[in-house]
Amino acid sequence: MDVFIDPGATAGLASQIYEAIRSGILEGRLGSGDRLPPSRELAETLGVARSTVTTAYGHLAAEGFLEGRRGGGTVVAELFGADAAGDGFEQFLDLPYPDPEQSVALDLRPGTPDPRLFPVAEWKRYTRWAIDRHDATYGNPAGVTSLRLVLARWIGRSRGVEANFRQLVVTSGAQQAFFLLTATCVDPGDIVAVEDPGYDRFRRLAEGRMARIAPIPVDSDGIVVAEIPTDAKLVYVTPSHQFPTGVTMSMSRRLELLELARDCGMVIVEDDYDSEFRYTDRPLEPLYRLDRWGLVAYVGSFSKTLSPALRLGYVVVPPDLLPALLELRQQVDWAPSQVAQEALKGYLADGEFDRHLRKTRRNYQQRHSVVVDFLHRVEARGLLRPVASHAGLHVAAHLGDGTDESDVRVALADRGVAVGGLSGYYAGPATTHGLVLGFGRADTRQLTKALTVIDHLFTAT
Ligand SMILES: Cc1ncc(COP(=O)(O)O)c(C=O)c1O
Repeated sequence: MDVFIDPGATAGLASQIYEAIRSGILEGRLGSGDRLPPSRELAETLGVARSTVTTAYGHLAAEGFLEGRRGGGTVVAELFGADAAGDGFEQFLDLPYPDPEQSVALDLRPGTPDPRLFPVAEWKRYTRWAIDRHDATYGNPAGVTSLRLVLARWIGRSRGVEANFRQLVVTSGAQQAFFLLTATCVDPGDIVAVEDPGYDRFRRLAEGRMARIAPIPVDSDGIVVAEIPTDAKLVYVTPSHQFPTGVTMSMSRRLELLELARDCGMVIVEDDYDSEFRYTDRPLEPLYRLDRWGLVAYVGSFSKTLSPALRLGYVVVPPDLLPALLELRQQVDWAPSQVAQEALKGYLADGEFDRHLRKTRRNYQQRHSVVVDFLHRVEARGLLRPVASHAGLHVAAHLGDGTDESDVRVALADRGVAVGGLSGYYAGPATTHGLVLGFGRADTRQLTKALTVIDHLFTAT
């Protein structure tokens, strides 16, 4: 690739070289592994001092665009290639979640686990076993009974949620559980209270049911129960790990919420989407376990622990709602694939899932520490204020006053790093701004690179 510079331009020579190479990489003209000319050679070609070229190379390496090859030479880093960027590179910012069709070099958007940690060999083995056993019937709309038994035991053991398997319905992901619950409980015009900021897909689902959304603020104790309208029909919460801020709902708030729901006849949807990954503090009892009145629908998912591509989740349904929910479940799509359900049953029953969780938890815990340590370092410089984080696959951090969230995300996107933004999770105008850093898709090496890019961006601005 030719590098063109203008010796008379106001921008320094090193920054012109930096910019020329960086845009070459982002526009796909330079791909992973492409060699850059040795600094001495490029300096001679351009008629500049060698130190000018090494300064430009040094910045690009620090931002993760270039890396040194063993035995000498500088190449475009592995993670940056033609697919990392291109025209309309920023368009992926419209997609809050990673999407394989829109690949980004360093993807720190929250929402998905690492496909490299998926237990491919075991899942193939259990799927083959399930295909051999399958009997070409429609099966039970609540799910394969033996899976429900195993799953009920597993939830009891791992979460202390004592669920009767008859109340447990296997769903196509948590999202389908949300659909079934809102369709069963919410009529047009009903008030549905949601955390704000909160899980946008739940909110949009409730809006689709013509519900009136009551966005309720979240503080360091979780949803501010005192602000939930007493005539709300349903409340959606993520107590173990609030999405997206990451706060844990305190015990006093849990009890306050249950009392309110009992007194006012509300249904609580408890979304426990990622509490299998808890690293530092002691888990608090789920609302479902504290509920003595049958108010709570407890929803779980295998999207973070295994893969969202499997579309497997479950809901423990309060007895009153069960008949209507099952009737609807049958109308929608009868049940998730029996082959996938049988495979999951075998995988859980043989203890493979527990082994997988132990392994992945260790791995994600390391990534979590890398992100948390980084945030504490930059916090000391007053750039970001991390929210205390103990669990899950993402960490949120508030931006300092005067730093524009969207400017930061666009500048990072320009450098091949995609991060989530807090403001996108508000129902209305955002009252806080910040970054949501997911570490599901980036291993520690990729994370370190991405965090270096973020650090440099903050240092430069
Ligand atoms: C807050 C929250 N709930 C639930 C889910 C899981 O949804 P599903 O099981 O439909 O993949 C996610 C996934 O991103 C999530 O962020």
